[in-house]
Amino acid sequence: MGKGFYIGKRLRLVFLVLGISAVVSILALSVIYSQEKRKSNKPWDKYRLPDSLSPQFYNVTLWPRLVMDERGMYFFTGTSGVAFTCLKETDLILIHSSKLNYTLTPQSHHAMLTGLGGTLAPAIVKTWLQTQTQFMVIHLKDKLQVGKSYWLHTEFRGELSDDLGGFYRSEYVENGVKKVLATTQLQPTDARKAFPCFDEPAMKAVFHITLLHPPETVALSNGMELGTEIIIINNQEVLRTRFEPSAKMSSYLLAFVVSEFTNIQSSPEADILINIALPDFSAGAMENWGLVTYRETSLLYDPKVSSIANRQLVATVISHELAHMWFGNLVTMRWWNNVWLNEGFATYVSYLGADYAEPTWNIKDLMVLHELQGVFEVDALVSSHPLSSREDEISTPAHINGLFDTITYSKGAMVLRMLSEFLSEPIFAKGLSNYLQQFAYSTTVYTDLWKKLQEVVDGDSSVHLPESIKEIMNRWILQMGYPVVTVNTNTGGISQQHFLMDSEAKVDSPSEYNYEWYVPITWMKKGVNMGQHWLLSKTATHEPMRTNTEWVLANVNVTGYFRVNYDPQNWERLLTQLSLDHKMYLRGKVQPLFDHFRVITSNWTQIPSGHMDRIHPDLKRTVYCNAIASGGVEEWDFGWKMFKNASIAAEAMTLLFALSCSKEPWLLNRQAKVIDRGFDALRPPERFR
Ligand SMILES: *[C@@H]1O[C@H](CO)[C@@H](O)[C@H](O)[C@H]1NC(C)=O
Ligand SMILES: *[C@@H]1O[C@H](CO)[C@@H](O)[C@H](O)[C@H]1NC(C)=O
Ligand SMILES: *[C@@H]1O[C@H](CO)[C@@H](O)[C@H](O)[C@H]1NC(C)=O
Ligand SMILES: *[C@@H]1O[C@H](CO)[C@@H](O)[C@H](O)[C@H]1NC(C)=O
Ligand SMILES: *[C@@H]1O[C@H](CO)[C@@H](O)[C@H](O)[C@H]1NC(C)=O
Ligand SMILES: [Zn+2]
Repeated sequence: MGKGFYIGKRLRLVFLVLGISAVVSILALSVIYSQEKRKSNKPWDKYRLPDSLSPQFYNVTLWPRLVMDERGMYFFTGTSGVAFTCLKETDLILIHSSKLNYTLTPQSHHAMLTGLGGTLAPAIVKTWLQTQTQFMVIHLKDKLQVGKSYWLHTEFRGELSDDLGGFYRSEYVENGVKKVLATTQLQPTDARKAFPCFDEPAMKAVFHITLLHPPETVALSNGMELGTEIIIINNQEVLRTRFEPSAKMSSYLLAFVVSEFTNIQSSPEADILINIALPDFSAGAMENWGLVTYRETSLLYDPKVSSIANRQLVATVISHELAHMWFGNLVTMRWWNNVWLNEGFATYVSYLGADYAEPTWNIKDLMVLHELQGVFEVDALVSSHPLSSREDEISTPAHINGLFDTITYSKGAMVLRMLSEFLSEPIFAKGLSNYLQQFAYSTTVYTDLWKKLQEVVDGDSSVHLPESIKEIMNRWILQMGYPVVTVNTNTGGISQQHFLMDSEAKVDSPSEYNYEWYVPITWMKKGVNMGQHWLLSKTATHEPMRTNTEWVLANVNVTGYFRVNYDPQNWERLLTQLSLDHKMYLRGKVQPLFDHFRVITSNWTQIPSGHMDRIHPDLKRTVYCNAIASGGVEEWDFGWKMFKNASIAAEAMTLLFALSCSKEPWLLNRQAKVIDRGFDALRPPERFR
């Protein structure tokens, strides 16, 4: 008999509970362990491609069907071949593929492999689709040889669904007839949903595209059309359009459109770049190389209906997409962690482009309103993030999609604007030109940009920077947030502090720069420009800023990405100055406008239907909104009727916005319910294009 021991009842319960929880923890740990083990080991469980293979060119043929099949599904079929070179010995091929069904080979494989240039290809052992990481996995009997090229061939079928991603379907009604078109949105990770491909921005290749499409439709893709011919498939007439080989480019920049649209403007430029507006589109626009796709409100403009704000939007969006032809398409970020290089540049340059086209609009002044003020709010939260993250922090499609945010676009643009301002535009432009030339058809990280700019600075004696571009700029892109700079005119003291909306909030993520920045401060004193002063530490003194009689203004034109605070006396002097200059101006200009609004607002619903155009396009947003806000169900119903009948997307959006101005909760609830029912309920049945 062994040594026993006795325990009381209550204690027994405690032991039982402890025992159970121990077992549960062990089980949980073993599950986590086995998951970790599974996650870490296999190349197909990681989201990034290995660096063993490099694509050279693709031959892709896609055939979207614009009518439902017998199961009520819209679909497309395709064949694709990719020539790739082996850079590192491997017996494994990983290629992206998502939501595609494959025609299996006689050996029941998803793909066929042959060697190019007389090379013998190893036999395939087995293939499968790794759904989670969106890979097709191909195991080979022997290793691929370094320096040799191979050809991987596949045949597949995908759904042409209405999910706005990959190769998808869009619908509209014309003369009472429903029309279907096929189009793409491949950025950032949906090219793999149209055909199997090495779907990472650095995997640039040349694409030979062929589209099969119904008679009476037009097929568009990135390159120029080589020609269209009629072929017969299963006793059916089908058009086959081939395109010139694309430039060497990233897969996310491809585009395919099959539609009944006609070209409304034939100009020499139309040969280089096609702009097309689509009824269903998730982004504002997409910079596919040579074939830019837009949401209708971002491209279509009718002077009778669209407001000045619509016009500005159209001009800046087109300019943004054009800028991408260089920033993004020609020179691409190596990985999505630096997508701010694409979007920040396109956003900043869009204002320069629109300003060049329409110099009288003063559109550059709007940057402060449209970009800076908006992102200042987001970037003042402890939940913000740096512009550039580490490459290994970003891997899943969800992560990548999350990067397309205000920080990337607006902070990216404003930090580049600040850089351009302290370097001066000619120096900035020269550096960029060198950068674009050196990295054309290739990819970069931000240090490549700093380097090319530094070369110009070093070769030009007119610029004096207190530190290298890298030292200055890394502080703005590698740490989140921005400083508030306090100028004390009583002492000439200046100091900086990480600006937080909630000053009590605690910053959890440490920064190697300790949330301090190298701040370029342009400033003026009593209207006289005093040039630029660099704040390189937490506190400093700049004697010329000491004054007790004159107003001091720092961050002239808000070109720096920071806020400014002053001592109370200087604030007083600034306020006095502002009221002297501006009060009369405002009162004189704005009051009559308000009076005018009041008149047309109260009479809005009496306008005979079809004559909404009597309200000036620029006032519509305000007029409709106020009419709905001060009205009841009658006004709301009227607005809803006008919305359903709107023939232009810009007008429809203005009305949809106005409906939300109602002060009646039950009407707002009604609108929310309609929105909840989805696109079709919201879509005006007929539109012009
Ligand atoms: C790919 O397409 C091009 C252009 O149509 C053609 O010349 C070439 O032979 C094709 N390559 C392969 C391997 O099929
Ligand atoms: C692909 O195969 C799955 C499973 O058989 C099926 O549910 C799906 O509808 C297929 N997709 C297409 C586009 O045929
Ligand atoms: C501020 O902007 C105005 C108008 O664009 C311009 O004339 C002026 O030179 C700018 N000031 C500075 C210091 O950049
Ligand atoms: C509304 O319109 C009527 C005639 O259409 C006009 O007499 C009346 O003054 C207008 N109301 C306001 C507030 O302007
Ligand atoms: C709807 O719009 C069409 C064309 O714009 C117009 O002719 C028609 O009168 C409108 N119907 C209503 C109810 O407003
Ligand atoms: Zn963009």
